[in-house]
Amino acid sequence: MRKKVVAGNWKCNTTLQEGVDLAKAVNNVVNEKGADDVVVVLGTPFTHITKAIENVDTKRIGVSAQNCAAEAKGAFTGEVSAAMIKSTGAEYVILGHSERREYYGETSETLNKKLALSLENGLTPIYCCGEPLEIREAGNQKEYVIKQLKETIFNLSADEFGKIIVAYEPIWAIGTGKTATTEQAQEMHKDIRDSIADQFGEEVANNTSILYGGSCNPKNANELFANPDVDGGLIGGASLKADDFIQIINAY
Ligand code: PGA
Repeated sequence: MRKKVVAGNWKCNTTLQEGVDLAKAVNNVVNEKGADDVVVVLGTPFTHITKAIENVDTKRIGVSAQNCAAEAKGAFTGEVSAAMIKSTGAEYVILGHSERREYYGETSETLNKKLALSLENGLTPIYCCGEPLEIREAGNQKEYVIKQLKETIFNLSADEFGKIIVAYEPIWAIGTGKTATTEQAQEMHKDIRDSIADQFGEEVANNTSILYGGSCNPKNANELFANPDVDGGLIGGASLKADDFIQIINAY
């Protein structure tokens, strides 16, 4: 059965010390309360990964990078490879976030390279998809998102796909305070799951965790997570406040 996952995406926020404090605060509560039925992931900046791992119980909390290089290694100044990330003890990598696609020109072609390298190195990709506002307003969100999947993760083998976590993040909801309604989230998650079933079969589809992202917070997490096809969240802003993030973890 698929796992419930609550993953934080810290983006370009926190100094090292602030990040360590945040990781410790989340760790304390997760250790006290159990939260055994939810996989908790902290998506920290590269610079914080090693320290975050030192300060959490990695049996209960996984640490994620937010990107990786599209090349295995070599003369690519400033890049961080999937193998480097894996060597820190991190288990996950967020790929295809709309901010990377929009501000850093990430295409499906780049993402296919990153997906392959992440999987080769034993990292679990948290693959993001989602439509911009004008596509939603035109009612073309399903076609748009399924095309993103077809150009990338649907090229994987069923075995490889089984290692992926999908995050549906409507761009108009990211950091805007405007959340998808529970109906909008469920409808798209169901469409994504159905298309996975068409591509890889029912079993793979039923085992895939599909997270919702976009202004998820302690007030709306409960309602969003109650949808049958919403298996957790990728949390930006609210993952930077330990109390809010913990309330979201406890929304299950
Ligand atoms: P948000 O970001 O929760 O701040 O909207 C979500 C994300 O971009 O992953």
